[in-house]
Amino acid sequence: MRASALLLAALATVSAASNTNVTVYRNESFLPGNILPPPHAVTDGGAIVDLFLSLSSSTKWKLVSKTKMQGNTGEPEGMARVGDERLFVTSNQYTESTVKYNATINGTDRTDGAGYCHMLIYNLQGQVIANASLTPPGDMEYHGGGIDYDGRYVWITLAQYRPNSTATIARIDPLNLNTTRLFRVGDHNGGIVHDIFTNELVTLNWNGANATTFSLNEYPMGFTPMPGFTHPMRDVPNPSFYVGYQDCKFLGHHALPNLLLAQRGYNYQINFNPVRPVMLCGGVATLDGFSLGGIALVDMLTMLPLWEVPITLTSDLGVTLTENPIDAQVVDGKLRMWFMPDQHNSTLYIYEAQ
Ligand SMILES: *[C@@H]1O[C@H](CO)[C@@H](O)[C@H](O)[C@H]1NC(C)=O
Ligand SMILES: *[C@@H]1O[C@H](CO)[C@@H](O)[C@H](O)[C@H]1NC(C)=O
Ligand SMILES: *[C@@H]1O[C@H](CO)[C@@H](O)[C@H](O)[C@H]1NC(C)=O
Ligand SMILES: *[C@@H]1O[C@H](CO)[C@@H](O)[C@H](O)[C@H]1NC(C)=O
Ligand SMILES: *[C@@H]1O[C@H](CO)[C@@H](O)[C@H](O)[C@H]1NC(C)=O
Ligand SMILES: *[C@@H]1O[C@H](CO)[C@@H](O)[C@H](O)[C@H]1NC(C)=O
Ligand SMILES: *[C@@H]1O[C@H](CO)[C@@H](O)[C@H](O)[C@H]1NC(C)=O
Ligand SMILES: *[C@@H]1O[C@H](CO)[C@@H](O)[C@H](O)[C@H]1NC(C)=O
Ligand SMILES: *[C@@H]1O[C@H](CO)[C@@H](O)[C@H](O)[C@H]1NC(C)=O
Repeated sequence: MRASALLLAALATVSAASNTNVTVYRNESFLPGNILPPPHAVTDGGAIVDLFLSLSSSTKWKLVSKTKMQGNTGEPEGMARVGDERLFVTSNQYTESTVKYNATINGTDRTDGAGYCHMLIYNLQGQVIANASLTPPGDMEYHGGGIDYDGRYVWITLAQYRPNSTATIARIDPLNLNTTRLFRVGDHNGGIVHDIFTNELVTLNWNGANATTFSLNEYPMGFTPMPGFTHPMRDVPNPSFYVGYQDCKFLGHHALPNLLLAQRGYNYQINFNPVRPVMLCGGVATLDGFSLGGIALVDMLTMLPLWEVPITLTSDLGVTLTENPIDAQVVDGKLRMWFMPDQHNSTLYIYEAQ
């Protein structure tokens, strides 16, 4: 079993298009039946929003399962459920740490460091099926960020691992892990979601301080050829000083209750559309060494948090559950949140809101 798996791995290291090196560990399809499952936005996105609006800081979270993820996961930065049988995970391996400067140099505050970004495909028993190397040796943009599956591609940001730097926006074909780099932006980018109805990408910069929007309807004509930077069509500062969002999922366009929108300060004098593009985001606020976790529904046009819930749960290793990857699922009418907080030796935690 072990020998054949190793043989398979050795035989299966292929250099796919767009400079992706993929190692296959198990004789299982990347996606069962080579079928692309539908994304949240056309399946459970509305149910996630509805259930989320009933959460509060006193919600009881019941542990559903803990699954050890095989292999060295490095720093998991984002994850996306792709159907009911696969989990895609961004895994960064750092080979040289960044070092803080004593001053701002070239607009940033630390050295570039070095490392690699990998995309891992897991089955839900925690066995790793495939491992794609997304960044070549020496690439300064070695930091993979949050991811979002849109029903066709997994979207990712590949950025320098320091604020106010640069990033490349790429999409990964989940059927074969082929990775296509589309354009570059002149800032660090972490989280990313694809609004499949407007065909807009929303990316978040360091700590989710700003959200930038790019219309893929304009691609490639309205985009600057790489390595030049493309300017976003919208740039919205995050009005919330709560958690820094790391990993987000597009949930679709949803008509939100008027009362909720009024509470959030939306102005009805200006022909306001109550149907909002909504994403689910998770992250942490680090305050004097204390890490507060949180998850939020966020209006993608204004970045206004529509609903925010603190998460005080931690992993068995003491890491705040929302540290990096998050996703959600609805089972029997109940909301489940998926978390993978620990580095290197990771566990998938699934909790259900009671
Ligand atoms: C994706 O990768 C496969 C396997 O390496 C290759 O045969 C195929 O041509 C690639 N497809 C695209 C669209 O790049
Ligand atoms: C992989 O599995 C398929 C069917 O499950 C089988 O036909 C094939 O021989 C297997 N390939 C290897 C290399 O084990
Ligand atoms: C993925 O491959 C890289 C080397 O290419 C390795 O460092 C890493 O441990 C692998 N990840 C897993 C989970 O196997
Ligand atoms: C920061 O300043 C300290 C003390 O002056 C110095 O030892 C250190 O090398 C400096 N670090 C960097 C990255 O420049
Ligand atoms: C700052 O940018 C300039 C021009 O790109 C480069 O030559 C220099 O090495 C950079 N400085 C540092 C400390 O990275
Ligand atoms: C970001 O870096 C650019 C280029 O070095 C610099 O002009 C700008 O002031 C920096 N912005 C911030 C917010 O640090
Ligand atoms: C893939 O492997 C080739 C050959 O070893 C190497 O030149 C290339 O940089 C690798 N690409 C990535 C993205 O790791
Ligand atoms: C956010 O974007 C605004 C407007 O483009 C810019 O002035 C500001 O420096 C950005 N803030 C951060 C933290 O990047
Ligand atoms: C990984 O974590 C599991 C569960 O916490 C633990 O039993 C195991 O010893 C750890 N392995 C390593 C290599 O740290």
